[in-house]
Amino acid sequence: MHAIKVEKLEKKFGEFRALDGLDLEVRKGEVYGLLGPNGAGKTTAIKVLTGLLKKTSGNAEVLGIPIPNKDIAQRIGYMPQETALYVGLTVHQNLEFFGKLFGLDRAEILTREKELLKFIDLEKWRDELVANLSGGMKHRVSLACALIHQPEVLFLDEPTVGVDPELRVSFWNYFANLKSKGITILITTHYMDEASHCDRVGFMRSGKLIAEGEPQAILKEAGTKSLEDAFLFYARRGGQ
Ligand SMILES: Nc1ncnc2c1ncn2[C@@H]1O[C@H](COP(=O)(O)OP(=O)(O)OP(=O)(O)O)[C@@H](O)[C@H]1O
Ligand SMILES: [Mg+2]
Repeated sequence: MHAIKVEKLEKKFGEFRALDGLDLEVRKGEVYGLLGPNGAGKTTAIKVLTGLLKKTSGNAEVLGIPIPNKDIAQRIGYMPQETALYVGLTVHQNLEFFGKLFGLDRAEILTREKELLKFIDLEKWRDELVANLSGGMKHRVSLACALIHQPEVLFLDEPTVGVDPELRVSFWNYFANLKSKGITILITTHYMDEASHCDRVGFMRSGKLIAEGEPQAILKEAGTKSLEDAFLFYARRGGQ
């Protein structure tokens, strides 16, 4: 069963094709890493899949439901690349806002908040205004907001940018924990060391996938030691 299925997805901005026939399948319970240079179309793909952008053509399904579909919002979590938080509210108020948005009651919000603040290591900052947090801390709050309603599929757009190395390790442990509960994660990152934690990775360039597979298999096929070099190998090979 696929959690995400994308066929020949196209997204045009004017005459420019940000997605140019993207094919992608992510299995249920899989951690799939979408990698690729700036402008490859990673964020655009996620925005189409979360219903924030309208596709131009092609098919896309999330949890077996063709998108866009408003009923799917409850079942997915999205952490945007540009942190979308209310900076004039406290950490707690942000979590409360997103909790209410997804229909959680007060008790559920408090239980989830406790667990998530521990995970992002910001328990002491609960009542601080988000405006007063560092960039990396804001990122951590944004991740917690995406997780508040225990979504089945998570879209994480560069969740570890600006996060210190120790916390990045704990993020990845947490993602593994979510995966063990059957949650599907589509994640983008520019940190190739992180990509090796993914079950599979897909290399994106110019709006399409140029290679995909398990990290070890990709390295083997490309005959390289690092995923950076593997990407160059596939990019030079002309994307086939
Ligand atoms: N709203 C928009 N209007 C016009 N062009 C856009 C818009 N959004 C994205 N693009 C273009 O689409 C292309 C893909 O952008 P996208 O943000 O998806 O790339 P990305 O792979 O996420 O890059 P990065 O690694 O920098 O986050 C870029 O060339 C970008 O300029
Ligand atoms: Mg992006």
